[in-house]
Amino acid sequence: MRILGIETSCDETAAAVVTDGRQVESSVILSQVARHRPYGGVVPEIASRAHVEALPHVIRDALDRAGRSWEDIDALAVTYGPGLASSLLVGVTAAKALALRLGKPLIPVNHLRGHVHSLYLHEEAPDPKDQTPILMLLVSGGHTALLHVQGPTTVSLLGQTLDDAAGEALDKGASLLSLGYPGGPAIEKAATDGTAHADWFPAPARLSAKSRTGGLDPATCFSFSGLKTSLLVRLEKDDAASSRRADYAASYQEAVMQTLADRIEQGLGRVSAEILGCVGGVAKNARLRSLIDGIAGQRGLRVLHAPLSYCTDNAAMIAGYAGAFPEPLARDQLGGLDVLPSLAVTA
Ligand code: KG4
Ligand code: ZN
Repeated sequence: MRILGIETSCDETAAAVVTDGRQVESSVILSQVARHRPYGGVVPEIASRAHVEALPHVIRDALDRAGRSWEDIDALAVTYGPGLASSLLVGVTAAKALALRLGKPLIPVNHLRGHVHSLYLHEEAPDPKDQTPILMLLVSGGHTALLHVQGPTTVSLLGQTLDDAAGEALDKGASLLSLGYPGGPAIEKAATDGTAHADWFPAPARLSAKSRTGGLDPATCFSFSGLKTSLLVRLEKDDAASSRRADYAASYQEAVMQTLADRIEQGLGRVSAEILGCVGGVAKNARLRSLIDGIAGQRGLRVLHAPLSYCTDNAAMIAGYAGAFPEPLARDQLGGLDVLPSLAVTA
């Protein structure tokens, strides 16, 4: 089954052609970063207008690069949420219109399911329908979650962040350090010239109260807002902060990544897994990858990181998920497809 996927949940306008859930024939991603940079973050109105301008060209480009025409496409897939409502609407509206005009099925895909599927775009990954248990860290700009994946229908949420996502913590930290936007890559780059001081930002302590975690085990949940505040307080007290920016970047990055690594260790103490996986924009981070490789090595687990080009938002993961688990909407349901922010996992 050959699927054209559309992703417009945030500030990347993306389209891709993927066959049978795993063979990526094309993946086109138009980043809007330059448009949002002057504001230090994504401006929803700018994002949705940029999607409107770019999406027709991005879709055309995805078909051309795959060497395909509309007749070759069996179905459309689109991200319906979670994400920025006004951005999601652009992709969903385009996908509905194409499905109606072309008479092709439309498969709505949850953005987070898409990120999970990006791991299966790794050539060494098992089949997505396989039951091999995977402990997967999903770390993006909007979400941080520890998942136990045991096949497509059994994805359990072991833990999640109670406040900022890891990527958001990096973006806000980079802003405090005047390192620019997006913050994750900026902090990673700056950190290469610095030294991580473990005592500057101790990795956030594990939570203890279940009342705050909605019933999830506090040891596998995350909280980054205190870390961000401690960076702010330290910077305010340090007159020489600008000359130590690389050390601040390295120390802050280390605290974020050590927290993620710690919660993975906690997760491994609670569920069985054969594979350790990492997906989402922050999965691009080399320090995080090396910490995860270390944990996997110590425990004799296989490790799979999402391919770098499918870590940040892309449509290949959306078309891939739809191809692996096609659940098209009935034609009379098309009008009812809305932008619904939900993560379909069980706690
Ligand atoms: O998955 P993604 O594109 O968007 C969401 O679904 O949120 O992730 C974007 C996030 C941003 O917070 C960005 O700073 C972070 O991923 N990121 C990184 C790196 N590249 C992107 N964080 C750490 N290191 C990187 N190299
Ligand atoms: Zn994402």
